[in-house]
Amino acid sequence: MTTLKQYLDGTKCEKKLKELIELIAAQGVPIRKAFISNQKYVDTKNIYGEEQIALDTWSNEHLIRVFRRSGLVSAVASEEEAEVIRFPKAMADYAVVMDPLDGSSLVQTNLAVGTIIGIYDNGDVMQKGRNMRAALYILYGPMTVLTLTVKEGVHVFALNQGGEYVMIEKNVKMPEGKIYASGALKKDWLPEHRKFITGLEKEGYKLRYSGSFVADVHQLLKYGGMFSYPAFRGHKHGKLRLLFEVNPLGFIITQAGGKVSDGYKNALGVMPEKIDYRTPVYIGSKGVIRKLEKMFNG
Ligand code: AHG
Ligand code: MN
Ligand code: MN
Repeated sequence: MTTLKQYLDGTKCEKKLKELIELIAAQGVPIRKAFISNQKYVDTKNIYGEEQIALDTWSNEHLIRVFRRSGLVSAVASEEEAEVIRFPKAMADYAVVMDPLDGSSLVQTNLAVGTIIGIYDNGDVMQKGRNMRAALYILYGPMTVLTLTVKEGVHVFALNQGGEYVMIEKNVKMPEGKIYASGALKKDWLPEHRKFITGLEKEGYKLRYSGSFVADVHQLLKYGGMFSYPAFRGHKHGKLRLLFEVNPLGFIITQAGGKVSDGYKNALGVMPEKIDYRTPVYIGSKGVIRKLEKMFNG
């Protein structure tokens, strides 16, 4: 079986990028271990006013510490931090955008959550998603899996008993499937979004929404279909964050032959106005996202 290291050695990645990806992958072990002792809500809110659980802050601080010590990363933007963190002494110029723990409201229910990471190679976190050099997520489900793209296809690795990632799916191409998901309260959906979802339901699309973006998108790689967190009443930018959630997963899905959109255009072409910029998101199989954009653009 191909290990993550063997796979990376066969790619065009430079040595330092390989080191960084392996370093991030290795953090799946301590983060997973931290689940049992970091279940509780702590009495703090993040910059979006969302309650943090201990595991949000633990994973965030842990990863920032790892990046600082590595000397490989010159800037980090995290969903849990109001400002970009810079490491001027770093020996490499990778800039990391991350959601240390996505789907954290599910931690106490033991459903799948994940760590989302995007990597740029020019020290800058404030740029279009399509400039990414690599993107990955670690999904803590029944297995711990790592889904990675270094712009040479999308591959899935599973953490084995020996603490090594081994490839379980090579060159994933997402099918046109019939799974759909939509966030926000139905009563707050805007008319166009409602119309599109109703259309999908009529076509026989099946609802699968867990509350964890990373888990909901992961299943689309296998089954195809569409996940959305739309603009909704009083929230024209929706809920999900361009830098930390939409761009890295959008980059992966696009590499797997799918598409990501803000409803009207490719989300990977959007220049973030600020670090905590939110965007409506439609992500999934190419056909359904094209159809959505066509309808939204009239
Ligand atoms: P996070 O746990 O990083 O704050 O992200 C939660 C996000 C995303 O994972 C999920 O799709 C969505 O918020 C769920 O929101 P609702 O609770 O509104 O459904
Ligand atoms: Mn998140
Ligand atoms: Mn998060």
